[in-house]
Amino acid sequence: MGQITRRLLILGGTGEAIQLAKKAANLPGLKVIFSLAGLTNKSVNGTVLTRIGGFGGVTGLIQYLRNEAIDLLIDATHPFAARISSNAATASHELGLPRLMLIRSQWESLNQDWIEVDSLESAAIRLQNQQAKRIFLAIGKQQLSVFYHLQNMWFLMRTVEKNKEYKIVPKGKLILAKGPFNRSEEKQLLLDYKIDTVVSKNSGGDATYGKILAAEELGVKVIMIQRPPKQKGETVVDVASAMEWLNVKLFENI
Ligand SMILES: NC(=O)c1ccc[n+]([C@@H]2O[C@H](COP(=O)([O-])OP(=O)(O)OC[C@H]3O[C@@H](n4cnc5c(N)ncnc54)[C@H](OP(=O)(O)O)[C@@H]3O)[C@@H](O)[C@H]2O)c1
Repeated sequence: MGQITRRLLILGGTGEAIQLAKKAANLPGLKVIFSLAGLTNKSVNGTVLTRIGGFGGVTGLIQYLRNEAIDLLIDATHPFAARISSNAATASHELGLPRLMLIRSQWESLNQDWIEVDSLESAAIRLQNQQAKRIFLAIGKQQLSVFYHLQNMWFLMRTVEKNKEYKIVPKGKLILAKGPFNRSEEKQLLLDYKIDTVVSKNSGGDATYGKILAAEELGVKVIMIQRPPKQKGETVVDVASAMEWLNVKLFENI
């Protein structure tokens, strides 16, 4: 008797999601579909079937899960990707579909100079309040316009890829670079551009932590944007634990 093949949808957008997709694809009895929003050229580069683009909100996602007869869902999106995670929670609840969230741990404050804010808009207000002058804006490419009105400040912006949709970016310089970035490289960058404040999302992970360590070493202020509220549900913080969850789910269904 042949083994039943289960179908897993992984919502991607992080390095961990790619690692998970590659590993999960080797599990017997599992067909993996990897999904990306299509904002970057990130992909699994291999044998994993990848689909690109939004589903069309929660109703579109429910429809997709039904059409593709998905049995298991892993939300491995970025901790700041709140909308897709909310849609995944609603859709899996509606369909009674097992769902796991893979979310890396957040960074913990190193010292008292770490200023926590709950949004990009609050970060912009804090920059004004503390009269920052030269800022390293390390928030990705999507929401740079939030800082556009701060015309008396200069911004160093770093993104992985050019964004065709850049319309409004604050005054300063845009550089393209892909991590990981280590502490000494980041220290040199902060020195070269005479940065007095770093604005960062609390993304967690090692790949982009170097700038926080470098800022601490140099006494550069850090404004840390806190994560949006997390969806309820089973959560793991690393790929190995997500694989354990998958193995248990596959075993349950033999
Ligand atoms: N926000 C960040 O700081 C950040 C950083 C690094 C990577 N990312 C990744 O970039 C993507 C977009 O981020 P965001 O902040 O714009 O997220 P978002 O606000 O939660 O998502 C916006 C819309 O993009 C579509 N989408 C998002 N992730 C998708 C996926 N994996 N597969 C298919 N469609 C997806 C969905 O469209 P529909 O409603 O039409 O389904 C969603 O409603 C996410 O996958 C995220 O993991 C985000």
